Amino acid sequence: MIKAQRGTKDILNDEIPTWQWILENAKNVFQNAGFSEIKTPIFEATELFQRGVGDSTDIVNKEMYTFSVGGADKNSSSITLRPENTAGVVRAYIEHNLNRQSPPQKFWYFGPMFRYERPQAGRQRQFHQIGVEMFGINEPAADAEVILSAVEFLKSIGLGNLEVELNSLGCPKCKNDYRNSIKEVLAPYLDDMCDDCKMRYEKNPLRMLDCKNENCQKIFEKEEVKKVIFNDYICDECKTHFNTLLSYLDELNIKYQRNKLLVRGLDYYNRTVFEIKSSALGSQSAVCGGGRYDGLVEMLGGVPTPAVGFAMGVERLFSLVEKKEVSKLDYYIVSTNTKEALKLAQKLRSQNKKVEFDMQGRKFSKQLEKASKCANYAVILGEDEIEKGFYSVKDLNCGEQRKIENFSDLL
Ligand code: HAM
Repeated sequence: MIKAQRGTKDILNDEIPTWQWILENAKNVFQNAGFSEIKTPIFEATELFQRGVGDSTDIVNKEMYTFSVGGADKNSSSITLRPENTAGVVRAYIEHNLNRQSPPQKFWYFGPMFRYERPQAGRQRQFHQIGVEMFGINEPAADAEVILSAVEFLKSIGLGNLEVELNSLGCPKCKNDYRNSIKEVLAPYLDDMCDDCKMRYEKNPLRMLDCKNENCQKIFEKEEVKKVIFNDYICDECKTHFNTLLSYLDELNIKYQRNKLLVRGLDYYNRTVFEIKSSALGSQSAVCGGGRYDGLVEMLGGVPTPAVGFAMGVERLFSLVEKKEVSKLDYYIVSTNTKEALKLAQKLRSQNKKVEFDMQGRKFSKQLEKASKCANYAVILGEDEIEKGFYSVKDLNCGEQRKIENFSDLL
């Protein structure tokens, strides 16, 4: 038997109402906040992610589904299933000159993402994200607007009690100074650190800070290292930006915690970065991750444009929310006269009723058994009903049966 690929999952009938409910809430909350939906392709040129997400990241180094298409043809090209959607939305923003509209330009999206990771609870190889990206605004009001939208959406699906963790990475200048001081203080310990950290030391030293390796953790605990890590390194301008954002969040009563070790696993961030976690999720605890990426549009060939956004893992949201039940049919038509049953189904559905009927001409008792499992009412169309032109309607919750003369009384 051919089975679904490791790290992928079928979403079946009983889970669909909850998925739909999560998406309806996302659509409502984000549209109310002025985000319009954007759908970009699930595969893009590999180079987009190498340049956009960054070639020092785990995503680009180890986790991409990359294919060469076109074979030996001279037009062959390398494409990658999107591991995330920020780079794709930025590509679309540049390609369609969306910067011509006056800022902010605000988008939200939903769709599958692909990462070749080791599957575990809360971590899949194909998973879904709901996210937003906002372009054109430098002011901390944009960061507040994005975080507010994330929190309001979580509230709308009953997850209003999660805390936001946030940090400021500073602008490229302060980020660079910080990076250099981290390299300096960690240099004597490098031989004792894990291979990932050794690689990150060269390519992206900030990422060393969220290494989970025990030895590396011990090194970060050393006094002289801690002093550098927890040094308030960001410049005055970045500090003001961050503090203004915090004052907005206070005003909005959004609970947050500053986490100086929060650096995020993608290269494009600067200034604000944030995550929203749930302890109920175990080791893969982040439901939402995001931040500012003021340099990405320019880096991918557009005009310099500040931007900020986030994405949430829908499977993780799904595991936290209260599940919605599959809704019952309004009517199940019980009849051995297929033509009449089909006609009535057509008529009721045209009035927006959820209706099914028996297609096999089974005994009435079998049909009623089926009806009581899946519908609120059975409409019985026996010979008598058809001949005399009425409907026998049985309330399947209380068992009461009534005679109904007119179709309009069925509605
Ligand atoms: P990310 O932190 O890589 O950020 O992913 C965002 C969220 O997607 C995570 O918090 C998690 O809920 C979910 N997620 C990630 N990987 C998996 C996986 N393998 N299985 C299940 N869920 C997963 C980004 O993707 C950025 N593009 C977010 C962003 C948008 N930043 C700015 N704009």
